[in-house]
Parts: sequence; C-alpha cells; structure tokens
Amino acid sequence: MTFNDVKALFDSFVMPNYSRLPIAVERAEGSILYGVDGREYIDLFPGWAVSTVGYCNKSVVRAVKKQAARLLHVPNNFYIPEQGQLAKAIVDRAFPGKVFFCNSGAEAVESALKLARLYGGNRRYKVVSMDNSFHGRTFGALSATGQEKYQREFRPLVPGFSYVPFNDLGAVSNAVDDETVAVLLEPVQGEGGVNIAAPDYIAGLRRLTRERDVLLIFDEVQTGFARTGEWFAFKHYDVQPDIMCMAKALGGGMPIGAILASTRIADLLVPGTHASTFGGNSIACAAGLAVIRAIERGKLLKRAGILGDKLRKTFTAWQKKFNGIRDVRGLGAMWGIELEVPGKAVVDGCLEQGVNINCTHQTVLRILPALTIEDDILDRGLAVVEKVLGKTL
Ligand SMILES: Cc1ncc(COP(=O)(O)O)c(C=O)c1O
Repeated sequence: MTFNDVKALFDSFVMPNYSRLPIAVERAEGSILYGVDGREYIDLFPGWAVSTVGYCNKSVVRAVKKQAARLLHVPNNFYIPEQGQLAKAIVDRAFPGKVFFCNSGAEAVESALKLARLYGGNRRYKVVSMDNSFHGRTFGALSATGQEKYQREFRPLVPGFSYVPFNDLGAVSNAVDDETVAVLLEPVQGEGGVNIAAPDYIAGLRRLTRERDVLLIFDEVQTGFARTGEWFAFKHYDVQPDIMCMAKALGGGMPIGAILASTRIADLLVPGTHASTFGGNSIACAAGLAVIRAIERGKLLKRAGILGDKLRKTFTAWQKKFNGIRDVRGLGAMWGIELEVPGKAVVDGCLEQGVNINCTHQTVLRILPALTIEDDILDRGLAVVEKVLGKTL
C-alpha cells in the first residue's frame, strides 16, 4: 500500500476528527518510525508520551506474544493473575492503596471522578481543576478540562467543575466550598504547554485539601512511569495524592489506564459502582509488567534525568542563539520550548527533514523522547530541530 492508498481509505471511511501527519506508518522500532513509502523518521515525541520505553520494545513485545498464546481475555468476574501482579507493581512504586484498571487516560479520570463522588457521599460533588489543564475527551474528563476550546460545542457539561489559575494556591482556597470533594491537577501540565507545578504550591495544596477534607487527585497520565525522572511526578514534591490517574506509558503501546487510590478510600469502589469490560485485560497487564521491568533494567529513571540535563543545556543555548524563544521549561525528559510565534511551521519543517516533534497551545514545541533513545539518534534529531528553528525564527 502506498501513502495515497491509505489516505484514500481514511478520506472515505474514517471520521475526520484527527489532524494527521502525512505519513502512513508501516512499522516502528526504538525511536524510529518507518513510513509505507520506506522513509525513516526520528521521533522525538513518540506515541504522545506512550512509547517511553521505545516503539516495539523487545521485552514488551515478547510479553505480549507470550500472554496472547496463553490467554487473550477473560472478564472481570474472574481473577486475572497479571492484573493482580501489575496492581502490586504499581502500588510498590507509588503509595499504599489499591488499583482499578481501565483502558485510557480519559477513563482513568472518569474513574477518579466517580470515586471522588463516592467519597462525597451524595452530599459533596464539586471538583476544582486548573486553567489550561487537559484530562481527556469523555464528558467527565472534558468537564474537568479547563479549556474553553474543547468544551464549547459540547455544553451542557457535567455540573460541579470550576477552574482556577495553575500555581495559585489562594485561588484554589477560594474555590473550595462545602460541596467540594476534590482538587484535580496535572503536576506538570502537558497539553497545556509543559507548565510545572511549584513545590510550595503542591505542598500548600496537600495541606489545604487535608484541612478541608477534600481529595487531592493527580492526573499522571502523561507524567507517569519515569517520564520526569521519577516513577511518578508526585515524587518530586514529597507529597502523596489521594488518587493518581495513569495511562499512556503504562502499556508501552497496549491500551490501558488505571487509578491508584490510597488505602483509606480505595474500598469505596464496591461491586455495582464502576466497571470496564476490558479493564485490566491480561495482555495489557502483561505489557504493563514488561514496561516496569524495562524501566528498571534500563535504569530509565536515571536516564530521564541525564536526558533532561542534556535537553536543558541544548534548549537554553538555543534560547540565547535565536530571537523568538520566550521560555524553555521541563522536568526530567518532558520539555517545552515556548516560541513568540506559532510553532506549526517548525513542526512541519522538522517533519520534512525526517524528525517528528509536537506543538501544543499554538506556540509551545513539545519534546518527549523515548528514554531508550540512543545518543547519536537524539543528536541527529536535535540538529534538525535547531536547523529548522534557525530558518523559521
Ligand atoms: C494529563 C492527561 N490526562 C488525560 C489524558 C487523556 O488520555 P486518553 O487520550 O488516553 O484518553 C491525556 C491525553 O493526552 C493527558 O495528557
């Protein structure tokens, strides 16, 4: 099949809700994508933060193959060994509690919101979330997302959400009232432009939520599983959330989402309150276990820190070299370069030269390489971005 054959199928039969890059992917390995036309691309934003252990990570592929031959799927009225093992593996690396499994980031957020409602006991239901947050496209997650552009065409939304500026503790304090049950945030806003929560803000949120008996929910769908140099971003802040949402990198490319809730509240999710047919599917969980092993064997927490130092130095140098870079910011291997002009021309220019990066919020270039990326491939990719920036700015 040529690219045009694939595109013709999409034009006729697939709904047009995604802006797609002009590449039909035939296969991918590590940090390299291969188009059906044989062209290679270095991917510095692999899988939108999914492919943290690289595309088609060998251990993940092996685990999926082995599991597929043994058991594809049984529903959740049976005990599923890999699900129990993955829940323990997450708890061991995060905090004491219990896990509920689903299939995506949005579903993880929905699950967290429903658990919070159970905690509110039909009396408290309001949730405070942040301006420029992103929590997904289903109705609860969309209602939690503090961005008008995603909500505009879908009102009325789920009631009870209010949005306050990120990193403003006073605003949260003012927004919490007697009907508030949770405060929800991403410790590093991804889609919102790589905005990093300040340590005293997070410490203040934890104090405030404890004092007012409100749950603190961290959406770590993008930051989880080594991306920021820790298993989870909350570890940078010396606090523990009450609920943490996960997805993306957890499955290494298999669809999976999850929430971890602290021991105090996890058992509120009793039979009849919530469920998912595919949640905690054996193959997705086998993949998750393999991702965790790959992170440990590859020492990828440390590697994220090393990559982060390199990216910080590189991007800071670019900021000095080029006019038109307003800010560079990141945590671990999660980076944003904020331009004074729209970033689309840079993304398009890089792709023409065989490198994939992302732009969010019009002006923020996003670079989240696989933590397994080889130094020479990263250098080659960054050299292209630098060249394109030089031409564009
Ligand atoms: C922080 C965060 N939460 C939730 C989501 C939604 O995840 P999904 O697309 O898997 O539903 C995303 C997706 O980008 C995200 O970045």
